[in-house]
Amino acid sequence: MDQRVEALRTARNPLFNDRKLKLGTFCTNLSGGCTMSDIPGILQADWPSSLALAQLADAMEFEAIVPVGRWKGFGGSTDFNGAGFECFSWASAMAASTKHSGIFATSHVPTIHPLMAAKQATTIDHVSNGRFTLNVVTGWYQPEIEMFGAAMMEHDRRYDSAAEWLHVIKRLWTEDEPFDFDGEFYHLKQAVVRPKPIQKPHPAVMSAGASTKGRHFAAKYADVGFTNLDAHDLDSLRAKVDSFRELARKEYGREIQVWTNSYIFHGDTEADARRYYHHTVHERGDWEGVENLVSIMGINSQSIPAPALQNLKEHFIAGWVGFPLIGTSDQIVDGLQTLARAGFDGTLLSWPRYLEDMRRFQAETLPLVVQAGLR
Ligand SMILES: Cc1cc2nc3c(=O)[nH]c(=O)nc-3n(C[C@H](O)[C@H](O)[C@H](O)COP(=O)(O)O)c2cc1C
Repeated sequence: MDQRVEALRTARNPLFNDRKLKLGTFCTNLSGGCTMSDIPGILQADWPSSLALAQLADAMEFEAIVPVGRWKGFGGSTDFNGAGFECFSWASAMAASTKHSGIFATSHVPTIHPLMAAKQATTIDHVSNGRFTLNVVTGWYQPEIEMFGAAMMEHDRRYDSAAEWLHVIKRLWTEDEPFDFDGEFYHLKQAVVRPKPIQKPHPAVMSAGASTKGRHFAAKYADVGFTNLDAHDLDSLRAKVDSFRELARKEYGREIQVWTNSYIFHGDTEADARRYYHHTVHERGDWEGVENLVSIMGINSQSIPAPALQNLKEHFIAGWVGFPLIGTSDQIVDGLQTLARAGFDGTLLSWPRYLEDMRRFQAETLPLVVQAGLR
């Protein structure tokens, strides 16, 4: 274990605890959460819902409450994620309203100056007493980046600017004396941030790039890297985790955590859970919205075969292409066991009727997760 992880372990960020499979919530700051559907009970972007979900996560000692940085919805019948709260201000309020969970802010690099990001992150690290993690994203949704009046950079250049952005932030977090910085993307004069963050040497960093450049960025700079899944059997999952860890070890001599995201459809029986899934995705899913989403991402039947494209859309509607956990409590626990066996350090969870379903998870499934030795 490298020195930095050792130092953070002694800090209060629960990301560095010893639980076999760490858990988090994903996208509780936006309308729809992770589910593109109009079933009754779908998440609304309102403070009581956000707060209730964070407090549920906190009561279960989840290691991560991760908001999504989103500035514009995807149209369609639900305008999925069209209403939502800004990540840093939301995270600061969450930090003040919780005691145990790790609090994340997702930051789009081109929307915020590194000095501002460093200062806001430091503030939240103090409010949370050392539970903050910065999730760095470069942005891929052109219409929302254009809202800031700037053209979107070419893909790999976005990561070059992110590297410089994060470099400046880490210096601001750790250096006592004001410094000048004259880079390719950023220019700062006698810049300093005081007080320093609670976490030493600095707050944890997460990154979720999926491209080669994005994976290298996470392997080189982040404490937690996310990986997307294209298959769900144990061997494929293990291969995904191993290749990410190996990349960090071999290329950069670093240890990183590897996480993914999962969605839960819970039922009294497997058939119930599958009916719930069918209703949410096929009967009430926002198929127009998902069409917009995949076309903005540049995914179409020319880039992947039609059946695979259909499958991908279904997966987006169900829970932002997460690992499917569909069934009874026992089956959900089996799925989480599979992720742990594959070597994942953690997974972010989402539910279609976020509040109702997450309460049910707390009452019925969490005790079995603990019994299985996962937490
Ligand atoms: C867990 C997770 C969280 C993410 N959060 C955001 C986000 O809040 N905002 C955003 O624009 N993109 C987000 N992304 C997208 C990634 O930042 C990234 O753009 C995407 O995985 C494509 O990878 P690439 O940029 O390397 O091509 C997220 C991805 C994952 C897996």
